[in-house]
This record gives sequence, C-alpha cells and structure tokens, in this order.
Amino acid sequence: MKLPFDGAISEFHDTRAPESIRRAIRNAKKSDILSDSYPYDREMDSDAYKRQLAALQIELVKLQAHVKAEGSRVAIVFEGRDAAGKGGTIKRFRENLNPRVARVVALGTPSDREASQWYFQRYIPHLPSGGEIVFFDRSWYNRAVVEHVFDFCTPAQRTHFFAQVPDFEAMLVEEGIHLFKLWLNVGRAEQLRRFLDRERDPLKQWKLSWIDVEGLKRWDSYTEAILETFVHSHSCCAPWTVIRSDDKRRARLASIRAVLSRLDYAGKDDAAVGLPDPAICGGPEIWVS
Ligand code: ADP
Ligand code: MLT
Repeated sequence: MKLPFDGAISEFHDTRAPESIRRAIRNAKKSDILSDSYPYDREMDSDAYKRQLAALQIELVKLQAHVKAEGSRVAIVFEGRDAAGKGGTIKRFRENLNPRVARVVALGTPSDREASQWYFQRYIPHLPSGGEIVFFDRSWYNRAVVEHVFDFCTPAQRTHFFAQVPDFEAMLVEEGIHLFKLWLNVGRAEQLRRFLDRERDPLKQWKLSWIDVEGLKRWDSYTEAILETFVHSHSCCAPWTVIRSDDKRRARLASIRAVLSRLDYAGKDDAAVGLPDPAICGGPEIWVS
C-alpha cells in the first residue's frame, strides 16, 4: 500500500532536520538514548524491565478486582506528542486486564455535530462508570495543543477551554473519579527516529498521519503550546505527571507506578509498586523540550 505521504519522513530527516539530530540518529545504536539531557545513556535492560513489568501487572490485576468490588471509577488521561508512546504504554497497562473493565477511549476528529457542542460534551459519555478504568489515548487536551498548532480551533475557543478545564476536572474529582493526567515527554531526535521506523515498517505505517508529517516542522509551536497547557491546567486537584519517554521501558514502568502508588487497593504490595523513578517522572518542572 502506498501512503499519500510516502517518504515524507525520510525527506524531512534528510533535508530539514537539524544536523545535530541527524547526527544523533546516524551514530546511535538501537538501545542508545538520543537525548543529551536524558538521565540515562542506554535503554533499560530487557530482563529487569520484564521482571518489573510482570510484578506491576499483577498489581494492576489486584487494582482491577478492587475497582470492580468497590465500584470505583478511574480515568487516566494520556497526552504527549505523536510517537511519545501513549498507545504502547496503555497496551502494557491493559495487557492482563478485562477489556470490559479497562477500556480505551481514542476519539477521532470531531463530527460537525460534535463541533457544534460544548467542547467537553463528547468526552462525557466516555467517563468511567462504577467498576471501570478508562484510558484516554488523547483527550480534551487536543484543544490546548494539536488543535491550536494546526488552527483547528480559534484562539478564543482555546482561551475558553483554558478557563473551563480546571473547573471541569475539579468536578470530576469532587464527584469521586480518580483522575490521572500523564504527559509523555519525548525528545525531538527520538520522535524522528520512531517516525522513521514507522515509515519503514508495514505493521506500523498506519500510525503515521498527515498531522505527524506536518507536525515535524512545528516542533517549537508544540513546545510553546504544551508549556502554556501546563500553566493553565496543572492544578492541585488534577495535577500533571510528566514522564520522560525517550526510553519506552522506563516510561511504561514509571507510568504504571505513578498510578498505582496513588491508589489504595486490597492486597497492595508496596514493595512491588515502589515509587516512580524521580529522574524520569515528576511534575511539569521536569519537562524538557
Ligand atoms: P493520533 O496521533 O491520535 O494517531 P493524528 O496524529 O492523526 O492521530 O491526529 C492527532 C489528533 O488531532 C487526533 O486526536 C485527531 O482527532 C486530531 N485532529 C485531526 N484533525 C482534526 C481536525 N480537523 N479538527 C480537530 N481535531 C483534529
Ligand atoms: C504514541 O505513540 O504516542 C501514540 O500511540 C500514537 C501516535 O503517536 O500516533
């Protein structure tokens, strides 16, 4: 199958990407971390990753049982640039869970009807009912970042969104929903490396879209939009957790730990859960562009 933007990623890499990024990609081995500011040089060892992931997945199964038994509601928002690792992280959370309890919500472009509604309206039917854990693969934060960067919304609509989002989330939390907001933070070279992989791999090409190709040129606009988003939506009742995701393995473990460490459930093994690695998981202050 020929994609409409076939070769567009390689072309960007060859002709427009900064030389420092091309050099980082060219010289790196598969397991090397490309970002100079990332706290580790190499990807996490695979055996240690698998061992920790397996222990955390057992904890997630206990959490699932608890959520069902208590009728609790959990909503986890995943945000991040394209190829930050949202889908892969959600997959590891859900690997051993019941798809009816642990659902993914990945809404597409709003229809004309949805576009005529209150912006938050189309997300509301997808919020968790009792006994559910809902993973939002992208969320209402589209308005704050991608819609803004691509002019899919007006500045006034975005301002209105920022005015409403703290109250909207405060209501969810007051209502008793356990709300988590995870922002996966990928570096520029690693994002480009992942896009190049996707372009080459027939099993991954579907993940590439026109937005990704165009977004490469708009790195700085994304950066600005993300920082503004933190300013307007990092609140005490609904704080952002930033997870540096240049190493997918560490990012997945830290994401699961960030959630489990903040929930109580029957049979919790505190030693297995531990705390997320503070070098790669923290508040907006650890974000790196
Ligand atoms: P994803 O990264 O989720 O696979 P894309 O990179 O293609 O998808 O798009 C990023 C986000 O931008 C998606 O959530 C998509 O719904 C949204 N989007 C794309 N086109 C529009 C549009 N015209 N108006 C509003 N949102 C849009
Ligand atoms: C991601 O990798 O962050 C998401 O799964 C999807 C994407 O980038 O298009």
